[in-house]
Order: sequence, then C-alpha cells, then structure tokens
Amino acid sequence: MMKTLLLLLALVSVSYGFALGIGVPLGEKDVALPISSEEVKAFTRTLKNGQKQVWNLSGPNKGTWVDSKGKKVPSTNFVFKAPGTLIIKKLSNDDAGVYDYEPLKVIKEEKLPPGVHVDPHQQRIELSVIGKL
Ligand SMILES: *[C@@H]1O[C@H](CO)[C@@H](O)[C@H](O)[C@H]1NC(C)=O
Repeated sequence: MMKTLLLLLALVSVSYGFALGIGVPLGEKDVALPISSEEVKAFTRTLKNGQKQVWNLSGPNKGTWVDSKGKKVPSTNFVFKAPGTLIIKKLSNDDAGVYDYEPLKVIKEEKLPPGVHVDPHQQRIELSVIGKL
C-alpha cells in the first residue's frame, strides 16, 4: 500500500492552483486519496462532467456521495479512513475529478497569538485516470 502511494506521488504534477495532481492507472486497487490530515466534516468532489458531489461524515447521507440534486450515488467502491483519507477499492474512469474537503474545525487566524501562523493545509487532489496503453 505504502509503495503504491509513493509511486503515485512520484507521478505528481501540479496542474493548477493548490491542487495536487495524481495520475493512476485504470483498474488500480486500493487507491488512497489523502485529502486531509485533519478531521473532516465532508468531502467534496467535482467530476469531469462538472457535476459536484458531497460525502458527509455525519447525518442521514453519511458515507455516500450525494449529487447536487440530493440524489445518492452508488459509493460502495469507496472506503473512508480517518481522519481524512478516501480509499477507492478499484479505480474506474468515473472517479476522475477534483477531490476536496470541508474541515470539521475552522481555525480562525485572528484568534491565534501574535506571530503564530497556520499554514493552509487544505489541499485539493486532482485525480486523473490513466487508460491502458
Ligand atoms: C451534509 O450534512 C449537512 C449538515 O451536517 C447538511 O446540511 C447537508 O445537507 C448534508 N449534505 C448532504 C449532501 O447530505
């Protein structure tokens, strides 16, 4: 698992903004997306077709992708790993997109003591699916 992750990180290319771009071959198993290093309220993803989906970690729609119309999307291919990782059991073309999250606790910069700076650790992951050659 770790070896796979390192291999993936070697393929990293920053495509835009703060998104971390990773390219993973189609059909790859147990693809870990380390979206957040802190506790997460919800994950979000924007698919290639522009559709936005939300994965809540609490409430009635806990543990499933829900589209912008409130419709549940089959999500058994995904496993949540605390605090902020999603694992794709087997990568399909439909999983390509930009993955992001909403933090559980929002740190207010202005409440920090003077001189203390918090790095923005929010980082989107842009997942590309590489077709078989
Ligand atoms: C996620 O949960 C929040 C409240 O915790 C709720 O307002 C929101 O509608 C939920 N989103 C989905 C897609 O279920």
